[in-house]
Amino acid sequence: MPHPLPDEATRRRLVTRLLEHYAQHGRDLPWRHGSDPYPIWVAEIMLQQTGVWTVLPYYERFLERFPTVAQLAEAPLEAVLSLWQGLGYYRRASHLHAAAQRVMREHQGRFPDTFDALKQLPGIGESTAGAILAIAHGQHHAILDGNVKRVLARLLALEIPTDSTPGKKRLWECARLLTPRDQAGHYAQAIMDLGATICKPTRPLCHACPWNEGCAACKNGHPEAHPVPKPRAPKPRKYQFQTLVVRPEGRVLMLPKAAGGLLGGLWHPPGDEPGPSASPPNAEAVQAHLKERFGIAVELPIRLPEVEHTFTHFHLTVFPFLGAWLSGEPPVETGYRWFDWREDTALPIATLHRKVLKRLS
Ligand code: ADE
Repeated sequence: MPHPLPDEATRRRLVTRLLEHYAQHGRDLPWRHGSDPYPIWVAEIMLQQTGVWTVLPYYERFLERFPTVAQLAEAPLEAVLSLWQGLGYYRRASHLHAAAQRVMREHQGRFPDTFDALKQLPGIGESTAGAILAIAHGQHHAILDGNVKRVLARLLALEIPTDSTPGKKRLWECARLLTPRDQAGHYAQAIMDLGATICKPTRPLCHACPWNEGCAACKNGHPEAHPVPKPRAPKPRKYQFQTLVVRPEGRVLMLPKAAGGLLGGLWHPPGDEPGPSASPPNAEAVQAHLKERFGIAVELPIRLPEVEHTFTHFHLTVFPFLGAWLSGEPPVETGYRWFDWREDTALPIATLHRKVLKRLS
């Protein structure tokens, strides 16, 4: 079995060590002083995407302004968002506000104390629900936030990404097995602290870690190799058409790209922007495009073989057309040029557009 889960005796040792370590080194944080679920909920939401030291001043101001769930529910959303300014991920604030209103309406102002009811509230997923219930009520629930995923991925030397379906399944199994029946709240905060202060993303302090003996990644000497990075998302494919407008003597219409964007400052034939549509336009549409955009008339364009190109962030298929010029000149502001593609080697042209021009040879 890959990534075996620790046996019962090992689990007991790990939990005991972690709780001892927490008793000695746990951080004194304001939401750790009581068992009222409201401030614990506020803290857990703020801590979802933000570190403790950034959260602290926001948390203090928030609870000063909205000391109870009723006051939060009554406040205008703007007031909540304004206190959230700078903390980022603003959807968290509107979820918090909407959830407070539902607690007032549907739970008579009492913050729910069951997993299912909590998970119904906006912004509360499985891990946050578990954290609130474990910390506020000592209920037996596991948590698996970003820090905990990293700690457990190292504990098991997990060789698959933590966000893959089997990765998540394995980590939740491990998290549930490790969470002690009593002290689930202390355990939750202890493992979060371990992730934040010792089992850090880079340069983890394994020598100071209460789990170093039982940790597979520490034992194999490469704790930073876990969690393994997730595979890169496949590049999307985009499509565009380009028209080689050719004058009788052989020169081709080229336009300069505005500086800054993709291929900025380089020259290209007229066409549309790369987009998701995989079918080429018909020749009449290309003809109309040239007339409307550039005031030039061409014979009905002929389709040439496609050109494929790969950029850093996407693959591109170009549908080139050949349009014999009949009359008209593009507006001067376009900065256009009739380009002698056999002679003029100075004009900066991207590889992609050179490939398109080669369709003329
Ligand atoms: N991150 C998320 N919840 C936390 C908590 N209760 N204490 C410290 N860090 C956390």
